[in-house]
Amino acid sequence: MRTIFWDDGAVKLIDQTLLPDEFKIITCKNVEELADAIKRLAVRGAPALEAAGGYGIALACFERDFKDVEEMKEHLKRRAELLASTRPTAVNLFYGIERVLKKALSGSDVEEVRKLALEEAERIAKEDIQRNKLIGKHGAKLLEDGDTVLTYCNTGRLATVDWGTALGVIRSAVEEGKRIKVIACETRPLNQGSRLTCWELMRDGIDVTLIADNMVGIVMQRGMVDKVIVGADRIVRDAVFNKIGTYTVAIVAKEHRIPFYVAAPLTTFDWERTMNEVVIEERSKDELIYCNIKCRRSLIAPKDVKVFNPAFDATPLKYVTALITEKGVIYPPYEENVPKVLKQ
Ligand code: MRU
Repeated sequence: MRTIFWDDGAVKLIDQTLLPDEFKIITCKNVEELADAIKRLAVRGAPALEAAGGYGIALACFERDFKDVEEMKEHLKRRAELLASTRPTAVNLFYGIERVLKKALSGSDVEEVRKLALEEAERIAKEDIQRNKLIGKHGAKLLEDGDTVLTYCNTGRLATVDWGTALGVIRSAVEEGKRIKVIACETRPLNQGSRLTCWELMRDGIDVTLIADNMVGIVMQRGMVDKVIVGADRIVRDAVFNKIGTYTVAIVAKEHRIPFYVAAPLTTFDWERTMNEVVIEERSKDELIYCNIKCRRSLIAPKDVKVFNPAFDATPLKYVTALITEKGVIYPPYEENVPKVLKQ
């Protein structure tokens, strides 16, 4: 199952807003359509956004005819800005856009720019699957037969091009024959855990139990969790940015001495920055006041209530037992060990 791919001059992706009700592949024929898909989370998850950013630049190369290559390059730069304005927190999106834009700008005529951009976007997608398998291989060593792993949000096939990061670790361990059970947190307000993680794992025959986010305490207190593995949208020098609620899970895990792992590719690292320099996306109040954001019916809060709806939070690195990457597992002290891996 590929979450996002290039087909017949367009970007195709699984519309994740419809799952688990409906499995539908949508087609984005131009950058506006792709930007809209990113904003409304039809495609989401940091590594999938990296691929989307890359494919977005490729798409911009084909969306119209150009007078000459200079005009085309100006067009690509404007499209890169539009794509970069969709969501601010996952650094992978910017990496994907910039990588393909740089390649495209090195072309000397319209046809060459098109070829270079599309090849580079396809390379990002291919690399994503390869590195997720490596993350899975390294991370699986941390899991023992019989473990129950608590996870948050969706970090699986749907959050990447395929396989997944945190869910990829679980998938790899299961593939090795380990019996792993998963506890999936629902992940309010958009329910990536209940809608997407449960759907994906059940489809693959992996044992999953759904809990509401406010049940993390009781499952840890009752000894029902051996390990926590989550993904990341950006890893800076002092914190891991991930779906809102991750920070709370990390603190409760620490209180119960449960290892808390973060699985992410190196393109999620933004080691030059610190926590206070990252913009946390704030989303529409409708996500909190309506029971069903898809049709904006059935209020579950007074319509005029004031709402604070950040999409991500920052978990200080002191709560993180280890970072699982495609280059191996990184343990503290991170200020020493992360730069060594990033330099490789
Ligand atoms: O708002 P989303 O659904 O894009 O948020 C996704 C997450 O927070 C994931 O945990 C993260 O991107 C890692 S996905 C491998």
